[in-house]
Amino acid sequence: MPDLIEALSPEPAFQIQPDPPSPFLEALLDGLSRPQKAIPCRFLYDEAGSKLFDDICRLPEYYPTRTETALLRAHAPQMARRIGAGVRFIELGAGSGGKAEFVLDAMHAQGLPPSAYVCLDISPVPLAATAEAIEQRYPGLPVTAVCGDYLGELDLPASQARDLCFFPGSTIGNFERAEARDFLAHWRERLSAGAMMLIGVDLKKDIPTLERAYDDAQGVTAQFSLNVLARANRELGANFQTARFRHRARYREDPGHIEISLVSQDAQTVAVADSLFHFAPGEAVHIENSHKYSVNEFAALSASAGFDVDAVWTDPRRWFSLHLLRARD
Ligand code: AVI
Repeated sequence: MPDLIEALSPEPAFQIQPDPPSPFLEALLDGLSRPQKAIPCRFLYDEAGSKLFDDICRLPEYYPTRTETALLRAHAPQMARRIGAGVRFIELGAGSGGKAEFVLDAMHAQGLPPSAYVCLDISPVPLAATAEAIEQRYPGLPVTAVCGDYLGELDLPASQARDLCFFPGSTIGNFERAEARDFLAHWRERLSAGAMMLIGVDLKKDIPTLERAYDDAQGVTAQFSLNVLARANRELGANFQTARFRHRARYREDPGHIEISLVSQDAQTVAVADSLFHFAPGEAVHIENSHKYSVNEFAALSASAGFDVDAVWTDPRRWFSLHLLRARD
């Protein structure tokens, strides 16, 4: 009679702990309850989403990755000279596809090696892989991997060296403009005196080029967007029918961003945990913005966060830029 034994026992032999709340579930329930439905873009990157993003980076229409890589290949020696020797190289986000290596190689080749390398990412798996790859490529370089959110509080190891913070990929474009300013100001506070930041920033350009980059002919970006609904089905037991939503990417000229949404194709009701959400035909769920700047707009944003522009590199079409910023004293 196990029930009786448990009832008579003064202390239960074990306690069933409730599952900790899932951040994805909380964000989904909150976002789908809003008048303008939304899912935060950080949930696009589960394992399947990260693979699809790698595929996006190889698409003919998605120019940012190849343009930034070409800029790094062409100008890394000059970047290394401006940055100087002995910096602590902090890479924000793991798995940038070898972009940091362009700069690190150039630093070593010119006798300006960094004194340490720190990689920071929210996901432990790509973080460990990146740290290991750097350790193998640059024997003797002290490497630290810090698992955490680069927008939150972090335990960066103490250092006497000047910091160089590398933030490629125009990931800063996925912040709203005020958030991008706050992000820069936050790092300005956190970095050592004389610190620099090298940041990839996607630039404003003609609208068809921009819209094609976020709505490619093969439909890979659409799959990437729809994966967030499939992820909710996999992880949270939701019942989205992904075929009843359509990926939409359109450019908003003021202030200048690609806005990505999933648009319900008909009237439908979806269950997530114990909640039901109704979608009208044509109703949009906002999932991501990708902000585009002019070089001057980004310089003004950086200035408002306490950085001066040391140098800017752009490609001949002026489609992408790398900004080297210096923290103001
Ligand atoms: C990660 N980030 C910089 C990409 C971008 O271009 O905004 C995310 C992306 N979303 C769809 N395509 C690419």
